[in-house]
Amino acid sequence: MSMIVEKIPEKIRQYCKSIKKKDKSIGFVPTMGALHEGHLSLVKMSLAKCDETVVSIYVNPSQFGHGEDLNAYPRTLDNDLMLLEKMGISAVFVPGNEQMYKEDHMTSVEVSEITSVLCGKSRPVHFKGVTTVVMKLFNIINPDYAFFGEKDYQQAAVIKKMVQDLNIDVKIITGPIVRESDGLAMSSRNVKLNKKQRGQAPVLYKSLIEAEEMLMLGVSAVEVKQRIADKIKMQSEVLIDYLEIVDPVSLENKIDSKNGILVALAVFFGNTRLIDNILVNKIDNDRNQNEKAG
Ligand code: PAF
Repeated sequence: MSMIVEKIPEKIRQYCKSIKKKDKSIGFVPTMGALHEGHLSLVKMSLAKCDETVVSIYVNPSQFGHGEDLNAYPRTLDNDLMLLEKMGISAVFVPGNEQMYKEDHMTSVEVSEITSVLCGKSRPVHFKGVTTVVMKLFNIINPDYAFFGEKDYQQAAVIKKMVQDLNIDVKIITGPIVRESDGLAMSSRNVKLNKKQRGQAPVLYKSLIEAEEMLMLGVSAVEVKQRIADKIKMQSEVLIDYLEIVDPVSLENKIDSKNGILVALAVFFGNTRLIDNILVNKIDNDRNQNEKAG
């Protein structure tokens, strides 16, 4: 059966309802397009788990703050559709702004607390835009499962909280970060790096690995942060937006090491802001117990 490409919310809703009527499960992969192996790995997870898979491609303006890269965000719709068709997915939802945000749109969904740290600190409107659009997409598609990448660790945590708090009938599944052979996390924004910046960007993953090693050896979070910040700053083109060592559940500095430890960072290479993280699962050394990371 050929892939359906639909921009009208009511039509894709009817299509999804028809799938449900046949007692089939729907897996949903929301994206902003410019698809790469990271997205495709989520699509594969959905195809393996669900009877039908629906992908959305929509560059959501409400999650970009003033002066951020909304207009420069890469858009590669024809190629995206070709990739998805090859994978055998059922339908792609490709709304425009006129379908998603009517002129008199007044409603938003906002998760508090965990949205005010990490990316939320430097991108204050971002998560409100994400939760609002994802809620709308969930209401239109009504999926059984929705798939999110772990590169956007905080985004996945915020969506899980929204689903829990608002009793939304969907299971959130996360997929591991997919990396280039030199360790750079795949991102639609990587194409915006110039040659020099692209050469420098793998320092992020190298630093995260070093941070993990140090934490496992019992080096304090304060010292780990200092050492990896110094390592990243050795590159000429960078500006660190944040570099944090936090509890993976609360996203706060007060670490309860039974949850593991999350090292998360956002770094500008020129105008391009890249994020990455590593979840350090098991800290053996008592020195890290309940440590307050500075
Ligand atoms: O992760 C993304 O691509 C976006 O934030 C999402 C979840 C599709 C919402 O616009």
